[in-house]
Amino acid sequence: MLFDAAPDLRSDILRLKKQRNAVILAHNYQSKEIQELADFVGDSLGLSYKAKETDADVIAFCGVHFMAETAKIVNPGKTVVLPDMNAGCSLEQSCPGPQLEAFLKANADKNYYVIAYINCSGAVKALSDCICTSGNAVKIVEAAPKDRPILFVPDQNLGSWVMEQTGRKMDLWKGACYVHVEFTRDSIEAIKKEYPDAKVVAHPECTYAVRLLADEVCSTEKMVGYCKSSPANTFIIVTESGMLHRLEREVPNKKFIPGPTGHCRCADCRYMKLNTLQKLHDCLANLSPTVEMDEEIRRRAEKPILRMLELSK
Ligand code: 13P
Ligand code: SF4
Repeated sequence: MLFDAAPDLRSDILRLKKQRNAVILAHNYQSKEIQELADFVGDSLGLSYKAKETDADVIAFCGVHFMAETAKIVNPGKTVVLPDMNAGCSLEQSCPGPQLEAFLKANADKNYYVIAYINCSGAVKALSDCICTSGNAVKIVEAAPKDRPILFVPDQNLGSWVMEQTGRKMDLWKGACYVHVEFTRDSIEAIKKEYPDAKVVAHPECTYAVRLLADEVCSTEKMVGYCKSSPANTFIIVTESGMLHRLEREVPNKKFIPGPTGHCRCADCRYMKLNTLQKLHDCLANLSPTVEMDEEIRRRAEKPILRMLELSK
């Protein structure tokens, strides 16, 4: 006999959440089922604030590893569980801590002010002066000391977009998000032809050629506000597909079209999509896998995160 196991699974997750005094935080790229169960759904910045503020004992972080690690850094007394420990990020991988450390040593004479996009490891955060997210990168760069050169790591696309916005020259690490670089000028031009009245909303991790075609370039959270307040009715959303669920829930009267990549109708982040309802259930039941980190690195990584949270209030 066929039956839907999900209602039981969902009620089990809610029971475990209560039993563990847990909060479920989910990124905008999570599946519809996870977003519907979460206590808070948001972008990296909103999730960092929530992780810092929570009085729950356990944070079940439905996102990728660097996000859960950020929650642990700002809230070391809490148990932070991640449904799947393999949920990494190509941006994080593009900038290993030892490589950044060697680069900074070799360029010590430059006295770089290092701004790290939050999509990086705790080790990279520990080497940085300030963290930023796509939601506050412009503000963070504008607040940087004027008398020091900036090294922006690890996303060259976000970095060059911030340079365009601020006019501030920066040296960029050559990392990229493997999902966002799959959108091409041709794929976005083609979908614009299908929906000529639609506004194009793109994440700043997209390439310059794609950003040029966008009516709005912004973080995932700002996409919600933009689509709500715009007089337009149809939007082409040039980011990971999970964002469509968030928009459809919050702006139900409008139409959202996933931005196609060069070879697919929409873009999925394979890391974000490793998390499932079953794994969320299991990590709450077993209180495992947990995010752990070296206390010395945690303390050093916390400073630039707190600086960011203070600057972007
Ligand atoms: P946001 O902070 O805009 O949600 O972006 C996070 C991310 O991983 C984008 O790929
Ligand atoms: Fe990392 Fe890109 Fe996935 Fe975001 S979409 S988590 S930047 S790989």
